[in-house]
Amino acid sequence: YKKVTVKTLNDMKAHGEKISMLTAYDYTMATIVDGAGIDVILVGDSASNVMAGHKTTLPITLDQMIYHASSVVRGVNRALIVVDLPFGSYQSDPKEALRSAIRIMKESGAHSIKVEGGKEIKESIKRILNAGIPVMGHLGLTPQSIYKFGTFSVRAKEEQEAEKLKSDALLLQKAGCFALVLEKVPAKLAKEVADMLDIPVIGIGAGNGVDGQVLVLHDMIGMTKEFHPRFLRRYLNLYDDMTNAISQYVDDVKSVDFPSDKEQY
Ligand code: KIV
Ligand code: NA
Repeated sequence: YKKVTVKTLNDMKAHGEKISMLTAYDYTMATIVDGAGIDVILVGDSASNVMAGHKTTLPITLDQMIYHASSVVRGVNRALIVVDLPFGSYQSDPKEALRSAIRIMKESGAHSIKVEGGKEIKESIKRILNAGIPVMGHLGLTPQSIYKFGTFSVRAKEEQEAEKLKSDALLLQKAGCFALVLEKVPAKLAKEVADMLDIPVIGIGAGNGVDGQVLVLHDMIGMTKEFHPRFLRRYLNLYDDMTNAISQYVDDVKSVDFPSDKEQY
């Protein structure tokens, strides 16, 4: 596939090709992730944690998401770019939700938006879709409502919550969402949802029975240290590698090993 579109993702599901997705929040990382062949780049509100050091995703603002998204857009040639609508920018009423989504599209140049929740935000999703903006859903563990649940534990283990999740998933598909993220739910339930829906289901901590996988980039390259969920596979240990490189640089400066004769004018 050349440029990835929402249509491409649908074709991938139809052909049984898994969808790869990672986060990025800035230009340089986005060039690397896109160049490596990722299908979807999420400008996640996890930037609130990863970039700004907040404990939750709640504090990040729409202006800050637009800054991250526009930086990512400048680094990407192929991937489909999805941007999270941040907490507080879409929950109060459908008109505000649409205004927020329009600002993201206009001011960043991204291709689509993502929102957390099902039935509660149905009218907002419809309004955004009516404006021609593709919407990705997000169910299961929804970090913007962390204070309602109080924990980051696995979601929808009980029958009642699983039924609600399934009906929300159907509702999101029916409303016109192009894909759905399922976060931290039992693999069996996630597979049921993926089998039930025509739109792609992209999992994080949701097993391998879904249509694709997403991880937070800084976690999978091991830049973050204090986060060890079972679903996280670390492909690099950049925290340690960078620490070693930087302390080597400090030593080289102190000992006047750097710069050498060749590294000066
Ligand atoms: O913000 C984020 O990084 C996300 C993914 C974990 C799906 O929403
Ligand atoms: Na998010």
